[in-house]
Amino acid sequence: MPFFLFPMLGGQRSVANLASMKALVLKEKNSPPQFLEREMPTPEKDTVLVNVKAASLNHRDVWIMKGQYAGLSYPIVPGSDGAGWYEGQEVILQPGSGWGGDERCQGNGYQILGLPKDGTIAESVAVLRSQLFPKPSHLSMVEAAALPLAGLTAYRVLFVRCQARPGEKLLVTGAGGGVALFCVQFALKAGLEVYVTSGDESKIERVRTIGALGGANYKSDGWVDALKKMAGGFDVIVDGAGGADFGSLLKIANPGARIGIYGGTNGAVPNLSPQAIFWKQLSILGATMGSDRDFSAMLDFVNRHKIVPIIDSVFELADGAKAFERMEKGQQFGKIVLNIS
Ligand SMILES: NC(=O)c1ccc[n+]([C@@H]2O[C@H](COP(=O)([O-])OP(=O)(O)OC[C@H]3O[C@@H](n4cnc5c(N)ncnc54)[C@H](OP(=O)(O)O)[C@@H]3O)[C@@H](O)[C@H]2O)c1
Repeated sequence: MPFFLFPMLGGQRSVANLASMKALVLKEKNSPPQFLEREMPTPEKDTVLVNVKAASLNHRDVWIMKGQYAGLSYPIVPGSDGAGWYEGQEVILQPGSGWGGDERCQGNGYQILGLPKDGTIAESVAVLRSQLFPKPSHLSMVEAAALPLAGLTAYRVLFVRCQARPGEKLLVTGAGGGVALFCVQFALKAGLEVYVTSGDESKIERVRTIGALGGANYKSDGWVDALKKMAGGFDVIVDGAGGADFGSLLKIANPGARIGIYGGTNGAVPNLSPQAIFWKQLSILGATMGSDRDFSAMLDFVNRHKIVPIIDSVFELADGAKAFERMEKGQQFGKIVLNIS
């Protein structure tokens, strides 16, 4: 349920009277973020200021640093994920706004925090009141900040788009990634049999420790055969990589399988065989973030199952450039979070 439907408490944490704040700022393309003093955002119509206590990184922030989105103008405060205080209550932020009335897809007015408007990696961020949701009470600020964008994307691709059901066999590619790990955590709680790929054996082992049944290293020869041997085939596949390996996923999809695509880290998919798709009656389903309804449903799911996001590392705001470097190198297992005290 959105925050604005909850009764308000006292306003002991208001930040509206501060003139400047600390923030990470991307000043130009391909330059690491700088820790700077920046003017407080001015709330516009329908927006409120949130006192951010923690924010987390997504690959999107690295793409923004590299200038890979249309409509970018620097300087900008990056960050789509945040948790903090508003009017004395602990809140978690829905990173998207303006989804529109069609649950099937977002409308033209859809925006994500951190581009084109300043994002969450700052002491304060201006958001629409409708973006405020109550923070799950079993999560710390750092844990809550890890959840929004990746958790929302994972929830929508898995349950809304692919309609994953208990007992089905699921393959999640690139298990070390933020969205991918939430897919693994959510699917395990929902009773699916989960397998993964990763470019790092140690990440496969770590995913096994939380309940995945097995995995294969996409950098090794024979990873497709290895998965086939382990699982037979998959009813649902969730992929954030695309690229040359995508075609191989079709080979290990069961007839009638659903393949959800939420990312394209490895670029375009070459030589996709129509026969491989139509003969097995496969459904290929795109997914981007999610509506307010999806966000609410994701929070309900997290609250119900007491899911705790896997945190890779926590950096102080002043060390934000190191956090970006870690994500750029793909060293993480789980979310990289910035502590904003
Ligand atoms: N549609 C949306 O709404 C949405 C939302 C969030 C993210 N995205 C996109 O989804 C992608 C992942 O985002 P993220 O924030 O989760 O990124 P991330 O945390 O940086 O994870 C990226 C992961 O990609 C995996 N990877 C790299 N090469 C791979 C390959 N050949 N095969 C399979 N996996 C491979 C790596 O997994 P291992 O370390 O295990 O090898 C890496 O951890 C990005 O392209 C991002 O832009 C889209």
